[in-house]
Amino acid sequence: MTKKLCLVTFGCQMNVHDSQRMEDLMRAAGYDVIPEPEGADVVILNTCSVREKGEQKLRSEAGKLKSNDTVLVVAGCVAQQEGEALVKAMPFIDVVIGPDNLTDLPALVREAELGAPPSVRTVFDTDAPRFLTNPAVPGSVGASAYVTVMKGCDERCSFCIVPYTRGPERYRSADDVVAEIRALVDGGTREVMLLGQTVNSFLDPRVELPPDRDPDESQFPELLRRIAAEAPGLDRLRYTSPHPRHLTASLVRAHADLDVLSTHVHMPVQSGSDRILKRMIRRYTRAEYVRRVNALRDARAGITLSTDIIVGFPGETRDDFEATLSMVREVGFTSLYGFKYSPRPHTPALKLDDDVTEAEKQDRLLALFEVSEALTRAHLATCVGTRVELLIEGPSRPGASTFAGRTRGNEIVHIAAAPGVTAGAVVVAEVVRANKHSLEGRMESVRREAPPKVQPTFRRVALPVVSA
Ligand code: 5AD
Repeated sequence: MTKKLCLVTFGCQMNVHDSQRMEDLMRAAGYDVIPEPEGADVVILNTCSVREKGEQKLRSEAGKLKSNDTVLVVAGCVAQQEGEALVKAMPFIDVVIGPDNLTDLPALVREAELGAPPSVRTVFDTDAPRFLTNPAVPGSVGASAYVTVMKGCDERCSFCIVPYTRGPERYRSADDVVAEIRALVDGGTREVMLLGQTVNSFLDPRVELPPDRDPDESQFPELLRRIAAEAPGLDRLRYTSPHPRHLTASLVRAHADLDVLSTHVHMPVQSGSDRILKRMIRRYTRAEYVRRVNALRDARAGITLSTDIIVGFPGETRDDFEATLSMVREVGFTSLYGFKYSPRPHTPALKLDDDVTEAEKQDRLLALFEVSEALTRAHLATCVGTRVELLIEGPSRPGASTFAGRTRGNEIVHIAAAPGVTAGAVVVAEVVRANKHSLEGRMESVRREAPPKVQPTFRRVALPVVSA
């Protein structure tokens, strides 16, 4: 009988991409994938440690699986961060595997099945970085695909554990990125989301850098230009997450020149107070952030922006927080993710006193939520009555009778099922109604038919929302 695997994914897009690659590796090793842990022979918990809540989730999920004879694998950032300590704390875990060690997964699972003691593999591939790619089999690719361009992070934002869990920055060659995208497009993919912890710091390891290079300038704009030129069948190109420091004039020019680039950019700002930005070691001021996003808006009509905000960072006063609210209004983010500051091991901010009370953090988060909901509502209302081009991702939910598509500006639009409305099709629709976080539309025409047998994409959240 074929063995069954269940993958549970927490956290960011890099984790989703890693889960997809683990799924490929395990399918190749003969496993079938099932959606729920019940009845699975192997369960992989792909974890997030950016906030403490992610670790708590791991503990409760792992606890639920402890009494059966499933092989339990912990992957992702908590695996990398805790290593051996996880097995000591939870001896029923069979395999702990870091993000750079995924190719070892099938062998480690096999050993566990044969009764080997728990194994821990968390080595960064710093000398010879490996990047796992989408298997671009025609007929089995997604309408939308993640493509990694870099991994790790050389920033030292004082709140952030990622440099510790994902290691130093390593880049793929532009040749490899372009080749992967071309293969995906040939297989039917319409949209590519480029991934990297600071995706726009990309430097091509095969191209020599000028010695007097401005450290903010990267080769990301050139990469975007190459993708546009060498994968002309691609409908849409997006990227996440950019660091504001690398939103340089040349990246702005790329947005002006390349129609394929999405008109929506998600760019974490974290705070609107210069004093707090400095304590966060973000390396820009509020005015610099605003200047850069305004340049982007001037370069390309209709750009919408979303962001990440941390409330209650050590030392954040009510005035600092008010500065954040005023910045959110000033920029007019169409959506945002808000987080309460959560002290993380190995981060510089641990030296600062976590002095904003939980109740105050909660109040600030709710106040942020109110401002952002009003901005989202106002933005979605302006979309009603407009004609939009939708990339159909699949049914609105598994089994739903309506279909969900995404505009170039990243709004979700639900439309009724109709001939030609299938994953991967590009259709024109009129927006007829605004919901809280999405839109409803009426289909007008099919602009590009769906390629044969593209896999539907189900994203977990429709639009960024404030979460506790
Ligand atoms: N506490 C709260 N939020 C955090 N983030 C990163 N580290 C922390 C932390 N220690 C948030 C940032 C980042 C997003 C992915 O998670 O806003 O952009």
